[in-house]
Amino acid sequence: MAEAIGVFDSGIGGLTVASAIQQALPNHRIIYFGDTLHLPYGDKSSKNIQKYIKAISAFLYEMRCRHLVVACNSASSVLSSVNSMPEFSSITNVINPVVDKVAMNMGIKSVGIIGTKRTIHSKVYSNLLQEKRSDLNIYELATPLLAPMIEEGFVHNAITEQVIHEYLQKLPKVDALILGCTHYPLIKTEINRFFDGKVQLFDAPKLVAQHVVNCVSERNTVRDSEDCFYVSDLTNSFEKTAQLFFGHSIHLRKSDLFEL
Ligand code: DGL
Repeated sequence: MAEAIGVFDSGIGGLTVASAIQQALPNHRIIYFGDTLHLPYGDKSSKNIQKYIKAISAFLYEMRCRHLVVACNSASSVLSSVNSMPEFSSITNVINPVVDKVAMNMGIKSVGIIGTKRTIHSKVYSNLLQEKRSDLNIYELATPLLAPMIEEGFVHNAITEQVIHEYLQKLPKVDALILGCTHYPLIKTEINRFFDGKVQLFDAPKLVAQHVVNCVSERNTVRDSEDCFYVSDLTNSFEKTAQLFFGHSIHLRKSDLFEL
């Protein structure tokens, strides 16, 4: 039986990562959990995010997931301080695969990082990058409006361009930019346009999917059941936006994990 892969995010942005994993490992079952009840994590304290990580990872383990993918930068930034996680065969976060890819590219001398307040204030990207490449000039910028804007479906219009412009004009000239939030792949084209295609953009989905491929032992197994998508709070708008993030329509199920 194929090992199921548990993927979670604060909401539905992590579906960009789940979609890349599904394409890379079509025979593995994915169980997705979007904590829409507590969205956004970017504004929450690390103590509370750690509590959510513990509950969701225990749920996914109980659902027979043996690989865990933390498809949220805000959650990944506090993951190392979570004690007593279930015994997954592998735990993949969305930060290390991207940091490794950027650090390996010796042509990059300066890099910008954008993300939620939680991710940027944690300094997780800059600390990891500095460890690997002390010569890098690193600039971090919190862009808290971007995730809610994307959730509202504002992805390819004048407002999107304007908000991107307001934020990114604050960055000095960089060779590369890390999109440190799983929502941002949806506005990659607009970000690329802001830089006239002259800045290399790095985001998580494909790099994380490749990392997960390396973690699973059986690649040619036969899937035994369908993928499953849970959310902790379900509204029509989540169902609609999920399609935007995943590429096609999916059925969201309401989980009572956080019900009293
Ligand atoms: N998907 C989350 C991330 O990658 C952003 C949304 C949130 O703050 O919860 O950080």
